[in-house]
Amino acid sequence: MSRQVLVVSGLGKSFGALQAISDLHFHVEDGEIVGLIGPNGAGKTTAINLISGRLKPDTGMVRLEDKVVTGFSTNSLVQRGLVRTFQSTAVYPERSVWSNVLRGAFAEIYKGFWPALVNTGAQKRRRDAAIVHVETILDELGLQDVRDVPAQQLPYGRQKTLGLAIAIASRPRVILLDEPAAGLSAEEVDRVADVIRRINSRGVSVVVVDHNMRFISGLCRRVVVLHHGRELCTGKPAEIAANPQVIEAYLGTVNEPA
Ligand SMILES: Nc1ncnc2c1ncn2[C@@H]1O[C@H](COP(=O)(O)OP(=O)(O)OP(=O)(O)O)[C@@H](O)[C@H]1O
Ligand SMILES: [Mg+2]
Repeated sequence: MSRQVLVVSGLGKSFGALQAISDLHFHVEDGEIVGLIGPNGAGKTTAINLISGRLKPDTGMVRLEDKVVTGFSTNSLVQRGLVRTFQSTAVYPERSVWSNVLRGAFAEIYKGFWPALVNTGAQKRRRDAAIVHVETILDELGLQDVRDVPAQQLPYGRQKTLGLAIAIASRPRVILLDEPAAGLSAEEVDRVADVIRRINSRGVSVVVVDHNMRFISGLCRRVVVLHHGRELCTGKPAEIAANPQVIEAYLGTVNEPA
């Protein structure tokens, strides 16, 4: 039986009078790619912010592997293997692709308390390993040809790939992606899907938010639909697409899924 690497249970968050997330439940099994969709304002980004430590939930629980991590800081979650990507990708826009990805690997280098304080042999070995790891990531994500290019000079599509490269440099177990395909051409969307599949095949479980249903259907066997901050339903992409409640939720908004 598969293991659940991420469990979200009874999660709730309000902004003043607005209940952005209510009693949200879902889980991710080891090695799974789960889609999180819903109309604009459904609460997808808020859910990712709550799970990744950017926001503190009012209610509920987040469990990462065997550990309850509700309300943990983003840094502490990265150390424990949970990372998310942002829309603006590069940590240092003026620095090279290579140094940005190495920066992403720092969470791996400084794992543990003592190695961070003392420049031990163990720390040097970790640093050397991180440098090797960065090369592997640049190879696998097709970024070697732009390794020395400042991040801000990359075309938008490749900046998205760099965001994924930075995120996986810390060797996460679970990665949360907020609209990785937004603003990309059809060809770039296919390339990002391919990169996500490659990351997943390295044993990383994925939660992916996007409005592009073709992209989501191609990646996910299970999709959670959010509506007004609640789980409307969960199922296979084809089931979701045929669900009258889902269709109604989308028809009630300006932006329909692509
Ligand atoms: N920091 C905040 N303060 C107040 N309201 C917020 C805040 N963040 C989000 N909201 C509100 O919470 C609701 C959920 O927003 P959220 O950004 O999570 O939706 P979303 O599903 O990601 O939408 P989109 O598809 O447009 O990205 C919206 O009504 C939004 O206006
Ligand atoms: Mg959003």
